[in-house]
Amino acid sequence: HGYFTFDPGFLATGSCESKITYIDGDQGILLHRGYPIDQLATQADYLEVCYMLLHGEAPNEKEYEEFKETITNHTMVHQGLHGFFNGFRRDAHPMAMVCAVTGALSSFYHDDLDIHDEKQRLRSAYRLIAKMPTIAAMAYKFSIGQPFVYPRNDLSYSENFLNMMFSVPAEDYEISPVVAKAMDRVFTLHADHEQNASTSTVRLAGSSGANPYACIAAGVASLWGPAHGGANEACLRMLSEIGSVDNIPEYIERAKDKNDPFRLMGFGHRVYKNFDPRATVMRESAHEVLKELNIKDPLLDVAMELERIALEDEYFVEKKLYPNVDFYSGIILKAIGIPTNMFTVIFALSRTVGWISHWHEMMSESSQKIGRPRQLYTGEAKRDFKPLKR
Ligand code: CMC
Repeated sequence: HGYFTFDPGFLATGSCESKITYIDGDQGILLHRGYPIDQLATQADYLEVCYMLLHGEAPNEKEYEEFKETITNHTMVHQGLHGFFNGFRRDAHPMAMVCAVTGALSSFYHDDLDIHDEKQRLRSAYRLIAKMPTIAAMAYKFSIGQPFVYPRNDLSYSENFLNMMFSVPAEDYEISPVVAKAMDRVFTLHADHEQNASTSTVRLAGSSGANPYACIAAGVASLWGPAHGGANEACLRMLSEIGSVDNIPEYIERAKDKNDPFRLMGFGHRVYKNFDPRATVMRESAHEVLKELNIKDPLLDVAMELERIALEDEYFVEKKLYPNVDFYSGIILKAIGIPTNMFTVIFALSRTVGWISHWHEMMSESSQKIGRPRQLYTGEAKRDFKPLKR
């Protein structure tokens, strides 16, 4: 019945109306609630950005303090959730654990949850923003065989995360303000990006009225792939594999070869056909962090030279392939001491606010419909079934 547009990969499909994030891919502009990302990354902190994504306006001082307190009060996870980790293999990928444990939150908050009530929706959002760092740090601690570190209410959002990641029972982690600021900036730069694969996944899952914690787990799953959030991990592995600036031309040639599946990780974007504005801030931040921590990382030299060569290469220029957010984030995370297999988890915890803000916006609409794309059927025509002779 009726016609539909065939658009695999949704290159030309607008799936919803939204007031949260604006992107102009040709000009390289990214605004959250109207505010440019570079201003937010340098002048606001992550919790301010969370507040505005969720509520529509930047908070005043009082609103900010109240929001911070609410988030802080929700950082602990139910003790029962600790037991989930024991079911995983020691070498489980942290994204696998985070995906599963986030989904398991739905079993703690389901029966009394009314998703049509705005207050209850917001409470789910606060819980998720607050608990994702706790779950992320637990996945890391489990993977290295150390006891979990409980959240601390006297610390800022990023300080608390770093403390849960790096403190050990005998020794509190000394939090450098430079590192905490860099961490906060990484969170901010990943907070939202309109209808990307994982956000669209969360909206699609949520459009059936599903439990929000389960929807966020669907977002985590979608983010994991190397074409999306997994690119930061893949990018750092690629930079390590390239190893030295002398090897760059070989990898550039491989990226251009259509018979080779290799792509330059951290390059290209479905929407940006210009510099990704997040990459510009991330690049500056990477330099700042390495300088302040007095780290000389040869991978930064490889990254800068790779960027320079690619930006001058005809193939990349013609296809408008520029560095994206994931190109420099790995260098910052590595400098902070975060292991490579945790990079996509950091992206997931940062993006949780974007996912849940979109879910909240969608659920607030009076005309909200279940998402249900159509298909072009290319299978067998109608035929008769022949039962087995028994
Ligand atoms: N290296 C080499 N060639 C590339 C690259 C790359 N990184 N990205 C795209 N191309 C080529 C691609 O081969 C294609 O060539 P042709 O037209 O000759 O077939 C053309 O550019 C267009 O690529 P596409 O795959 O059709 O474009 P898309 O919009 O479907 O994909 C992308 C966008 C981000 C998946 C892709 O650019 C890519 O795989 N990049 C590497 C992975 C990456 O860095 N992902 C992070 C994205 S930003 C953060 C996030 O969203 O999570």
